[in-house]
Amino acid sequence: MCGIIGVVGAPDTLGTLLEGLERLEYRGYDSAGVALAGAGTTWRARAAAGTESVAALVKECESAPMGFSTGLGHTRWATHGAPEAVNAHPHLDCSGHIAIIHNGIIENHSELREELLARGHVFTSVTDSEVLAHLIEEARRDGQDLTEAVRTSLLVISGAFAIAVLDATEPDVIVAARRISPLVVGTAPGITYLASDVPAILDKASAFYAVNDDEVVRLGPEGFRAIDLEGAPVRLRQLTIDWDLETAEKGGFDDFMAKEIAEQPEALRATLLDRRRRDGAICFDEMKISDDELRDVKRIVLVAAGTSYHAALVAKYAIERWARVSCEVDIASEYRYRDPIVEIGTLVIGVSQSGETIDTIQATREAQRRGARVVAVANVVDSSLAREADAVIYTRAGLEVSVASTKAFVAQVAALELFALRLAQLRGTLLERDVEAHYRGLHAVGAQVQLALSRRADVEAVAAALAGARDFFYLGRHVGYPTALEGALKLKELTYLHAEGYPAGELKHGPLALIEPGVVVLAVATDPSMHAKILSNLAEVKARGASVVAIATDDDEVISAVADFVLRVPATEPLFAPMVDIIPQQLFAYATARALGRNVDRPRNLAKTVTVE
Ligand code: AGP
Repeated sequence: MCGIIGVVGAPDTLGTLLEGLERLEYRGYDSAGVALAGAGTTWRARAAAGTESVAALVKECESAPMGFSTGLGHTRWATHGAPEAVNAHPHLDCSGHIAIIHNGIIENHSELREELLARGHVFTSVTDSEVLAHLIEEARRDGQDLTEAVRTSLLVISGAFAIAVLDATEPDVIVAARRISPLVVGTAPGITYLASDVPAILDKASAFYAVNDDEVVRLGPEGFRAIDLEGAPVRLRQLTIDWDLETAEKGGFDDFMAKEIAEQPEALRATLLDRRRRDGAICFDEMKISDDELRDVKRIVLVAAGTSYHAALVAKYAIERWARVSCEVDIASEYRYRDPIVEIGTLVIGVSQSGETIDTIQATREAQRRGARVVAVANVVDSSLAREADAVIYTRAGLEVSVASTKAFVAQVAALELFALRLAQLRGTLLERDVEAHYRGLHAVGAQVQLALSRRADVEAVAAALAGARDFFYLGRHVGYPTALEGALKLKELTYLHAEGYPAGELKHGPLALIEPGVVVLAVATDPSMHAKILSNLAEVKARGASVVAIATDDDEVISAVADFVLRVPATEPLFAPMVDIIPQQLFAYATARALGRNVDRPRNLAKTVTVE
């Protein structure tokens, strides 16, 4: 999730860009850069200094030339290529006149790069984005103006993009376009702006417009003109923005938690994008473990903490089901001290949103010391866990600010299930048509999550009805169990109320003694093969006075007999269900916490990343 900004006609182009990049910081970045165009030349500065990138860029810009009226700025959240200055945006074409900035993922960048290299282009980065600069260069060389050059270049692009382009040989013009990644245009007298979203230009523009998918906008000091990818004129929808800056950074939501819950369909789409080669093989970001080694894996140990541990528990079911490899899941802080057994063929997978959780890093280091190969599943490119692993699968959930993890969880489950499908492909434990079916099914989960999110009002009504409750049990069977653990964790860390996740089958082995009127039991009841057993568990607790909430599929006509409240979700393949069934549980925890007046982004006693043991 990168941040982009552009301006044409401003008296202080560079100052506008740098201020806007500071406003985009919350989108996260590993590097930052600007490009200025004027008097037939393009000037560029970039810096890769982690969270200090914009500050470092400001220093770089002390030597910037004056008088440039057109400029682009970018903060990078790396998805392809390490977060080094050489990969920082803006990227230039071979002539050095054309500069582009990009937020998104170009799925077909590999083949485009090969074709452009074959035609003599020289690449200076390993990013997917740079192919755009060279495609536009060719179109310009063919005599197309910048708007037409961008439009025709985008016709061969597949994937997601919000881009902006300038060309020193066509001064006072920026051309922007979007597909899936966000892009807004802003206007003020004699000045036109573009940005990933409103905060970057909130205090500068007086009118704001949304750019829709496959629309191309030409910006000049006098204003803008929009066309679609076929070249037909389109009108941009004007936005009503009455936010203050802080609200704008949250995308109009009350807090980052609400924003990140809402971003889950996008997090899933981004994580699953560009994950298959032309031969159908499922591929990952940095896989320095050979296919033969993966094929010969004898045992897998997943190590993680908190929410990431729950995602790892779901992965165990998928890996064993599809790839038939024995799997165990360890709490990271326990793994290191249990003198773990590591043999030939042991693969350890470290799962971590931040990639900086010391428990998980120490566990994977211990595993490597004992000879295991390590795969990292992380959401932060070039994080410690990713750097030290033998292979990396990045979730692309974008920056997760709220301490309580939400979009990272669904992205981790999706990434781990992709890994399970890759293992099944290599080991031949699934027919290719079944791999294909599961792969397509994974891609459909985003829409199911969106549908579950649309039922927020139903969840809020249940949270209101249970407002006085102080004691919660979350139950599930099979992958419903880790889903219940995650739901309980959300409630604990957001509301400070006691909640316990439990395998539903364990109830009668002790916890049933705790069930009495006033206790709330929430059960994940979406798996048809576990349904009868869950129904009987719920009958047991209801008979003892518990208030029962069931997460059930739309077509479940019997659940109401044993549940006081039913939160409906669309049916999906059981192994995908955790990504959908967690949604009402996140919303329930959020609504309950808000009603209690909790700080949902910064719960007491907790940190976003636990870098101490
Ligand atoms: C989850 O909501 C918590 N913030 C916490 O349990 C978190 O999942 C855990 O600290 C692991 O963090 P990581 O994914 O960055 O390693």
